[in-house]
Amino acid sequence: MNKKATFLILFSLFSTILFAQKAATDEATMDRFIDDLMKKMTVEEKVGQLNLAAVGFDVTGPILNKGVDEKIKKGLVGAVFNTFTPDAVQKLQELAVTQSRLKIPLLFGYDVIHGHKTIYPIPLGLSTSWNLDLIERTARAAGEEASADGLNWVFSPMLDIARDPRWGRVSEGSGEDPYLGSEIAKVMVRGYQQDDIAKTNSVMACVKHFALYGASEAGRDYNTTDMSKIRMYNEYLPPYKAAVEAGAATVMTSFNEIDGIPATGNKWLLEDLLRRDWGFNGLVVTDYTAIMEMVHHGVGNSEQVCELALEAGTDMDMVSEYFINNLPEMVKTGKINIQFIDKACRRVLETKYKLGLFENPYRYIDAKRAETEILNDAKLALSKEAAVKSMVLLKNNNLLPLNADKKIAFIGPLVADQRNMLGNWSGAGNWKKSTSIQMALEQQFGAGKFLYAKGCNLIEDKEMLKKINNGGVVSRDKKTPQELIDEAVQTAQGADVIVAVLGETFNMSGEAASRSDIELPENQQELLRALKKTGKPIALVLINGRPLALQWEDDNMDAILESWFPGTKAGDAIVDVLFGKAIPSGKLTMTFPRNVGQIPIYYNHKNTGRPFSETQKYTTKYLDVSNEPLYPFGYGLSYTTFSYGDIALDKTNLKKSGKMTAKVAVTNTGKQEGTETVQLYIRDLVGTVTRPVKELKGFRQISLKAGETQTVSFDITEEILKFYNIDLEYVSEPGDFKLFIGGNSRDVKEATFILE
Ligand code: NOJ
Repeated sequence: MNKKATFLILFSLFSTILFAQKAATDEATMDRFIDDLMKKMTVEEKVGQLNLAAVGFDVTGPILNKGVDEKIKKGLVGAVFNTFTPDAVQKLQELAVTQSRLKIPLLFGYDVIHGHKTIYPIPLGLSTSWNLDLIERTARAAGEEASADGLNWVFSPMLDIARDPRWGRVSEGSGEDPYLGSEIAKVMVRGYQQDDIAKTNSVMACVKHFALYGASEAGRDYNTTDMSKIRMYNEYLPPYKAAVEAGAATVMTSFNEIDGIPATGNKWLLEDLLRRDWGFNGLVVTDYTAIMEMVHHGVGNSEQVCELALEAGTDMDMVSEYFINNLPEMVKTGKINIQFIDKACRRVLETKYKLGLFENPYRYIDAKRAETEILNDAKLALSKEAAVKSMVLLKNNNLLPLNADKKIAFIGPLVADQRNMLGNWSGAGNWKKSTSIQMALEQQFGAGKFLYAKGCNLIEDKEMLKKINNGGVVSRDKKTPQELIDEAVQTAQGADVIVAVLGETFNMSGEAASRSDIELPENQQELLRALKKTGKPIALVLINGRPLALQWEDDNMDAILESWFPGTKAGDAIVDVLFGKAIPSGKLTMTFPRNVGQIPIYYNHKNTGRPFSETQKYTTKYLDVSNEPLYPFGYGLSYTTFSYGDIALDKTNLKKSGKMTAKVAVTNTGKQEGTETVQLYIRDLVGTVTRPVKELKGFRQISLKAGETQTVSFDITEEILKFYNIDLEYVSEPGDFKLFIGGNSRDVKEATFILE
């Protein structure tokens, strides 16, 4: 070894030791500080630290927190959420640090889900970009904006694997796949926290909803979940685990039960799995009123549920105030051991210490930053970039991109809409700052260039309208449905091409927005049928928050572009894609069913003992619909086409300690440049437990010029072949494997190998 190498090794060893020593000293200093502080605290004040109060406005439940200012002064509040802007935060923080006895600063949290004031596509949309760098940049930008607005904690990422598009909250997550979900989890945590929560422009992430909320039975929100441990470990837990390993500072418990015990009071989940097995040492907060809701679940009265939650490892009580109303008395009567309160209180104080709030409680308050960082040009440009890269082209009979020389009629209630572009959970986003499609068209092409008609209301169903419309934001036109359709048909008659812009209102997906029918609303379908009768080619642009059942549309439309709820720059992004200034490259991260009866439908399912056969009656199938989805996981078209060569493996036998390389040549066979996401799947053919028919294990995104070929290579190691066996050990099992590479989970090239 030469001198330089020896020096480098010694230097890195030395700095590692120094770093570890410094960390230990820092921790010891923190521990001493907290010991001293806790010695001064009354039981009430300790419990006060466990109280997370909603101050501001109500989003997901009744506001139960009354007289919060007084409580802050008495030291009965540890953190607040729904309060932002430097002024508002300053006011509450001042109450805490000047008027409460021990002057303990507050944490400030908020639902920053896909942007704070600049809104990016809904998380499901971001995931369909398959662009980890982009997703990290949006999280980072959201964190920067939120922290410039006084916040230090965001309730994101939502990492619930979801296979049921009836569940409205699929819009908030990254879809059905544990591998992709885990990759996204890591970059989102990194984006928010920037590897240092003490930075004034970073925020703490909150992993939610721990755990399994995405498996609510029948897709009905807040419903029961029940699954085997082996499914949990292999299919649902990986993204949460990845986020914890990436250093997420906080975790939120979910509303649902697991093995019959609500997550908030589930000791196995919080203490054994999260803290012991995964080594999480941050803060656990409940979801909105989840402690109180345990009474409805039927696991005890108010005192019993507090005991369950606290002893299970829950630290903070979001909104229910069950902790502050019960725990002090329970200590007096010996119903709870103070050591559990101490533990939770310490974790809250540690979090504040790590954020640097004891040094300077106002460190996130800087009106100048708010002025320069919120909705600035860079963030708006990112909003457009993200919206473009999230769109998925589901069908195209050469209609897109549009030729601007043609006469085009833009029809539908979402053409001129700004309100719905942001989607659900658009935090502090102001829809008046979003661009509608019509605004973008007029800006780019001038006002008189295209034809426009509304065609229908977003929904006519009065019952649904009542349910989703408590803010009065979905309006209905004064014209009758028939008048609207007639007008649209007449407009369409004068055009060469129709672009129909349809979908959901922002509050038809998201929390408390489950649907048992996931087709387009009936009145929108009526409009489409009428337009179809004109015989003109139709491009359908969808704006919505979940996979929809689009069989009729697939059969009858010439092109379908899924643009999700695209965010602040929606109109600009959609217009760029429609006219070919930008080329769609998104790929689905949730399977699109043909009809609701196929749900749950997901690509990484198991085989059965009676695999599907066209000719054999007693095999797994429906009588009235195929087993195949309409659009599979990983699917999405471009304005160009790609072809895949055969897979070349450098060996066919892989040693456990070894590495194998799989290569495939991908060619752009179309006429323009495009981006392709090359996907790697494996199948473990024989296991001690049954294994999925395909599992995503890697992907690469490449850009290819027309006619260009690139070879993409993947390293295969034992690590990616591991799974949890019946004893929940993470192992690989020697034997035969299949390996698939392709542009989606269905259309793949195949090779086989053996793990020795
Ligand atoms: C309830 C939702 O389930 C959760 O995602 C959100 O963070 C909280 N409400 C706070 O608003």
